[in-house]
Amino acid sequence: MHDRRLVTEGIRVSRIFPKNSRQIAAALGLGVVLFGGLITAGVTYYFTPKYTRVGYTPYQPVPYSHRIHAGQLGLDCTYCHTNVFESPHANLPSPNVCMNCHDPAKGNIKGDSPLLAPIRDAFKTGRPVDWVKVHKVPDFAYFNHQIHVNRGVSCVSCHGRVDQMVEVRHEQPLSMSWCLDCHRNPEPNLRPNELVTKLDWDSAKDWKVSPLTQNTDSQEAFARKMVKVSALHPPTNCTTCHR
Ligand code: HEC
Ligand code: HEC
Ligand code: HEC
Ligand code: HEC
Ligand code: HEC
Repeated sequence: MHDRRLVTEGIRVSRIFPKNSRQIAAALGLGVVLFGGLITAGVTYYFTPKYTRVGYTPYQPVPYSHRIHAGQLGLDCTYCHTNVFESPHANLPSPNVCMNCHDPAKGNIKGDSPLLAPIRDAFKTGRPVDWVKVHKVPDFAYFNHQIHVNRGVSCVSCHGRVDQMVEVRHEQPLSMSWCLDCHRNPEPNLRPNELVTKLDWDSAKDWKVSPLTQNTDSQEAFARKMVKVSALHPPTNCTTCHR
């Protein structure tokens, strides 16, 4: 009984649709699901507020201030983030870097400050300080510091005026559209590599004709020259960042 009905239905269907209709229907169904998924991803991508992460300022175990150390004392970023020009990841300093100044046995600046107790403990025990990460791109996206800072893109383009921050604040969205905005038009963000860690450097005010600026008389002229001479061309194809 059951079998007969199935067979007749099969025949009826096969009259209207070609023989492989089931596969076609299945393929269509899958297509609809995939297409829907793509639309959802697209809508999420374009309509998610660009600035959701901006402003994130986690509480840190030690109230370390970039404003004091990088701003007022004028320590270069690479004094602590030593790897940023040589590695995909910018490292955080180990406690012995802080102890250059804060060790009671050495510089003894605030050597007995309770605020520095976690640093002294980490120094003694060798256990790392539990700094809370501020910036993070998802694992499915690839980012690399070395490539950017050696191409004249300053920390300030992506992290803002860290030298004025008491606590590091998430300044830029680090979203895909944000990456692509610069990749499509990097020129306004280019400067001589030697000035990459000078966050207060103002290309309009401080531009001088010098060997450093390749004897160009403006930032625009410098950027045009860099793009041409070093064939600088940030890629925008998907596999650049999704490998
Ligand atoms: C004396 C050491 C020191 C110097 C100099 C220094 N930093 Fe830092 N930096 C730290 C420490 C410690 C942290 C981790 C604690 C925090 O986030 O405040 C940090 C965190 C950061 C972060 C956030 C990392 C994350 O979790 O996402 C950024 C961005 C950063 N520094 C940029 C800079 C820039 C740009 C400069 C130069 C203008 C600079 N730093 C100079 C010690 C330093
Ligand atoms: C080149 C020397 C130098 C280095 C290196 C250095 N500091 Fe400092 N630090 C100072 C000076 C100077 C002050 C300001 C002291 C004052 O206010 O009288 C200070 C102040 C501080 C304070 C405030 C202490 C208080 O009781 O007010 C903290 C916290 C601190 N530093 C953390 C760190 C950490 C964490 C590191 C390593 C990532 C570090 N410092 C590296 C020189 C340094
Ligand atoms: C083109 C944009 C860009 C530039 C330029 C840039 N950063 Fe970053 N930075 C990022 C991104 C994106 C992350 C998050 C990386 C991740 O999750 O892997 C980050 C993370 C960091 C971190 C946390 C550790 C890490 O690698 O995840 C530190 C510290 C840091 N940056 C310091 C610096 C300093 C210092 C400079 C300048 C010498 C600089 N950055 C230049 C985009 C940039
Ligand atoms: C302010 C400008 C700027 C921003 C923002 C920026 N980039 Fe770039 N990016 C560049 C420049 C300039 C290059 C170097 C291009 C070259 O050498 O031809 C580059 C190169 C790269 C490369 C290397 C490509 C290759 O294989 O040669 C990767 C990967 C990359 N960027 C990823 C990212 C990601 C991911 C983000 C966002 C989190 C980002 N970038 C944000 C300017 C930027
Ligand atoms: C310059 C680097 C870069 C390029 C090129 C790039 N992406 Fe992305 N993409 C990212 C980053 C960074 C994120 C993570 C964004 C975030 O955390 O908000 C991302 C996220 C995504 C997501 C997740 C959706 C979302 O909003 O989080 C999808 C899907 C995606 N990318 C697809 C693509 C496709 C397709 C292409 C090629 C047309 C492409 N990407 C090219 C950097 C890039």
